[in-house]
Order: sequence, then C-alpha cells, then structure tokens
Amino acid sequence: MLGDMSANAPDRPRILLDCDPGHDDVVAIIVANHAADLVGITTVAGNAPLDRTTYNACVMRDLLGLAAPVHSGAARPLLAPPLTATFVHGESGLDGADLPAPTREVDSTDAVGFIIETCRATEGTWLVPTGPLTNIALALRAAPDLVDRIAGISLMGGGTFGNRDVMSEFNIWADPDAAAIVFDCGAPLTMAGLDVTHQFLVTHDRISDVDAIAAEFGSKFAAVLADLFRFFADNYISRHDDLAGAPMHDPLAVMAITHPHLFESSRRHVAVETRGELTRGMTVIDRRQIRPRPEPNCTVLESVDAAGAWQLVVDAVRTAAPSH
Ligand code: BDR
Ligand code: CA
Repeated sequence: MLGDMSANAPDRPRILLDCDPGHDDVVAIIVANHAADLVGITTVAGNAPLDRTTYNACVMRDLLGLAAPVHSGAARPLLAPPLTATFVHGESGLDGADLPAPTREVDSTDAVGFIIETCRATEGTWLVPTGPLTNIALALRAAPDLVDRIAGISLMGGGTFGNRDVMSEFNIWADPDAAAIVFDCGAPLTMAGLDVTHQFLVTHDRISDVDAIAAEFGSKFAAVLADLFRFFADNYISRHDDLAGAPMHDPLAVMAITHPHLFESSRRHVAVETRGELTRGMTVIDRRQIRPRPEPNCTVLESVDAAGAWQLVVDAVRTAAPSH
C-alpha cells in the first residue's frame, strides 16, 4: 500500500486540466488538486452540454475550495455532431448526488485563450484532457508553438476496444477530428485508454472507504463523492456483462504524470481514424513487430497498480475531507 507521498512533493507538476465533468472527471480534479499544481480547469462539451460540464466544474471547485480558475470552452466538436454521454453520467453529467449550487461564476468563456496564455507564460505545463479534445486541438491550431513549450499531453481516451462504438472510446469518438490533430501534433503524448482504465474499478467495497471518510470528518465533499461513485458504479454494473464497478478512467491521465511508477507502458505510434465507416473515432495503435513502421508518438499505458491508484484517491479525499 502506498503512503501519502504526493501532497508535499517538492516538484509538483503543473497541470492544466481540460475536462467534461462527468463522475470520473471529478476524480481527476481531486487527484490533480492533491498531487499536482493545478493551474486551471477548462471545460468542454462531452459527457453533458457545455453549460452543464462547466456548472459541474464550478460545483467541484467550491466543494474542494480550489483557487484554480475555471474557463469554459468549446460547446461542440470541430466537425462531428454534438452528442453527449448522459446514459453514463445522467442528464446533469453528475447524477446521483445532491449538488450544492456553485457560488463562483466561470472565470471566462475563452478556454482556448487561457490554455495558450498559460502554456506560453510558463514552460513545462502538462495539458491533461479528460474529455473530447476540441479545446486542445483549437489551442494547438491557433498556437503551434505550444508543442515546444508544454511538458506534454496526458489524455484519457482510446484503446484497443470501444465503449461508444465497437472500436471507439467516447472522448475520441465525440470529436475524432480534434483527436487526430492532437495525436499528430508532435508533443510528448501519454494515453490512458480503456485497456488500462478498465483495470481500475470503483466497486462498492471501495466506495465504503469514502463513506467512512465522510462519516469520520462529517465531510459534505466526501459524502457527495460517495453518492456520485454509487450512481456511476451501479450504472456501469447494470450495463456491462463483466464489470464489478465503474472504471475510473480520467484520474489515470493525471496519475500517469504524478505517479508514473503505478503504470506499465509501451511506446507506440497511435493515429486516429476519422473516416472509417465502422471505426470512426478508433485509436489505431501500431503494435507491429515488423519494420518499416512509423516512429512511436505516444506512451500507451498498458497496466496499472489498481490498489495503489485507489490508495491515492483515498489519500486525496482524506486530505480534503476535514475542511470540506
Ligand atoms: C470517458 O468518457 C467519459 O464518459 C468519461 O468521463 C471518460 O472521460 C471514458 O470513455
Ligand atoms: Ca471525461
């Protein structure tokens, strides 16, 4: 079991989280706040329409008492029709808990401008997208110099199987044209796809850890989180043949930066299928052992120490709970 080794780490990576909360996006926010220097949250349409993912980000900012600004971004994909994942996250994007209304407004509606300014102002920022890649693609198009200024892009998306279509994972499927721009951009890339995220489940057993923290500290934040986890887990369990809980997809994109020792990975070339009749939104991961083949452009996470990752979530919740 891991100790809480992240909260006071001397070199906390700078993370700008681009998200579409979303139950698992919320956990990405919690872990980024705990283990990194969270310089800002940008929102994108995805799990729910933009107004709702932005509202949800503002709710979480309040619940956690975050200083980080929230900037809203793209309300729809570059070319694809705007489609949500309300069947996974509910109409609100965060069904299952009694959410307090946010007390602070969004800081701006120019997420792309904020991404560009932030990455130009300080070199070495990590972009961590956990929703469709629309904002990130727009920022890279408007400011190609970002490729050389950022530490890299650690994203949740893709995999060797799909969850929104046979071969397509939701974040890539929702805006494949944006995803293709990101995978082609030349910056260091890390990909937390479904192969690894389905190894990290929030089960009812694990939710009881969060219930215990909520009870110990009388924490509204932890109680809300436990309710969110219950909705998410029950939803996944009811819709899958083989899952005992909900995959905690999005925090793995954060942990890949803050706790890389939790993962095994391989270097691969990954491209995005933007046209296939059956495969639009697929991440085409080149696993050939034969040359010639394209040079790797991506670190593909292959496996995760799920117990260690869960301990990190518990540490993050336990740290925040006493005052929230
Ligand atoms: C991804 O899609 C969303 O529903 C989740 O928040 C995650 O980012 C998983 O396919
Ligand atoms: Ca997400």
